[in-house]
Amino acid sequence: MPSSTDVSRRTGGRGVDAVVFDERAIAERVSELGAEITDYYPDGDLLVLGLLKGCFVFLPDLVRHIERPLHVDFLVVASYGHRMESSGEVRLLYDPEVDLRGKHVLLVEDIIDSGSTLARLARLLKGRKPESLEICTFLHKRLAEALDPDARFVGFDAPTDFLVGYGLDHAENFRHLPFVASIKG
Ligand code: IMP
Ligand code: MG
Repeated sequence: MPSSTDVSRRTGGRGVDAVVFDERAIAERVSELGAEITDYYPDGDLLVLGLLKGCFVFLPDLVRHIERPLHVDFLVVASYGHRMESSGEVRLLYDPEVDLRGKHVLLVEDIIDSGSTLARLARLLKGRKPESLEICTFLHKRLAEALDPDARFVGFDAPTDFLVGYGLDHAENFRHLPFVASIKG
């Protein structure tokens, strides 16, 4: 567990409420997740597609535990704050050039809350005819009754608090914390 002075130094005294997943628990789970992904995929092209910015800590840790050939690319989805477009469209600010046809695509996300972003993105990517499309999320709040598609690989089921650290932000703060903590809303 990080000490409170350590947390305070990293957050500039802003503080967090409670550490939810510490560095050690994360390292253990991410290593297991890498093994699960290694075992799951048959031979063929695997493209690990990270959703920025939230995956920027999780994805590099994860791919180092996937023991098979793979490629890495990233997506940037336009953020609409809390309000999402009702059209079912999702706008990509950065779209990888790579052709998804015939590839196993593993979409990597930091956290699934309502799951609406991911559902739209999955629909868009499926239209590009990958061999398969699966989702790996570091955290899952399990709020939605049924997600289509749901994540096949989940780091941790998370509390419904607002969480920061290990890539997750609050107004762009706290992404660099090596642990996950909750903050008061
Ligand atoms: P969803 O579309 O409601 O699943 O929202 C997913 C996105 O919202 C994530 O990729 C995060 O960027 C953000 N988000 C949702 N919950 C949290 C949280 O607890 N902490 C930080 N970001 C969150
Ligand atoms: Mg995000």
